[in-house]
Amino acid sequence: MDRKNLEKNIDEKNIKKVKSYANIAIIKYWGKKDAEKMIPATSSISLTLKDMYTETEISFISDEEAIEKTGEVTDLIYINGELQDREQRQKIGKVIDLFRENRSERVKIDTTNSMPTEAGLSSSSSGLSAAIMACNELFEKNLSRNELAQISKFASGSSCRSFFGPVTAWDKDTGEVYKVKTDLKFGMIMLVLNDAKKVISSRKGMEICTKTSKTFENWVKQSEIDFIEMKKYLEENDFEKVGKLTEENALRMHETPLTATPSFSYLSDKSHEAMNFVRKLRENGEKCYFTMDAGPNVKVLCLEKDLDRLKETFEKKYRVIASRVVELG
Ligand code: DP6
Repeated sequence: MDRKNLEKNIDEKNIKKVKSYANIAIIKYWGKKDAEKMIPATSSISLTLKDMYTETEISFISDEEAIEKTGEVTDLIYINGELQDREQRQKIGKVIDLFRENRSERVKIDTTNSMPTEAGLSSSSSGLSAAIMACNELFEKNLSRNELAQISKFASGSSCRSFFGPVTAWDKDTGEVYKVKTDLKFGMIMLVLNDAKKVISSRKGMEICTKTSKTFENWVKQSEIDFIEMKKYLEENDFEKVGKLTEENALRMHETPLTATPSFSYLSDKSHEAMNFVRKLRENGEKCYFTMDAGPNVKVLCLEKDLDRLKETFEKKYRVIASRVVELG
């Protein structure tokens, strides 16, 4: 083997590949009690989605390679083939620093999402959990799922739930991230109403709401009850109650930006229309419930057995991504 091929061979051996799944909350994490220690204001519960994932490749690079691409010594971050700007590189660099002991080592991360990036479709939960998993491989840390989840919350709170599935809880009091018991087999349908980047990030949005929203205190109080009830309904396999509470909890979360200063909303007219369509389907006997995150897209919770039929129904009106859940941990 000539030198060039030998180097290529060594390089390929050093590339680590991981896959991580997005999660969507049915009881929302919204607000931080302590941002430095990453203690959330609310406990949350989510579904981990098999068909919405991020695949990430990671490898060490030389300073020369970084300089050639960016003009500076930096980590190289690619999302869907696109080299990210300095701000994004620094953000992911901080995630890498959670593992990197030798600060002069530079890393290339090449990440591909199966869904639109940063459109409130939770690509950040799969993207950041994948980055954490990739670093665990590259830096040979051999950390457990639990340990990785605990590190991941510092990258992005919601990403810690992607290490478990199909249903995961993140407890605000104990900090634990764990699998919730249920025999219900879920499906989720994302209605992609607008795949443009969000205007106010979830981080910024929850910060504004924590500081200024008139309904925030009430949101936190009620959410504590919602969390306990949701775990009970899941354990009792009561889909109707799970679905109803999913909607109520999402609506309560979305009330907090409305009562913030300045007031804002993640939901658009299209979101309200879609929510009404879900209600209408329910009146006609379908078992489906909506939830929304820090963006206008509406996600529909259903049972796996109804997923294909409901997907067809929604497809007539919307661009959709349907997903089953995945068993992890
Ligand atoms: C609305 O995890 O994106 O999706 O911890 O500041 O990075 P940071 O926030 P992030 O918040 C997601 C909030 C949410 C609800 C949820 O997933 O529980």
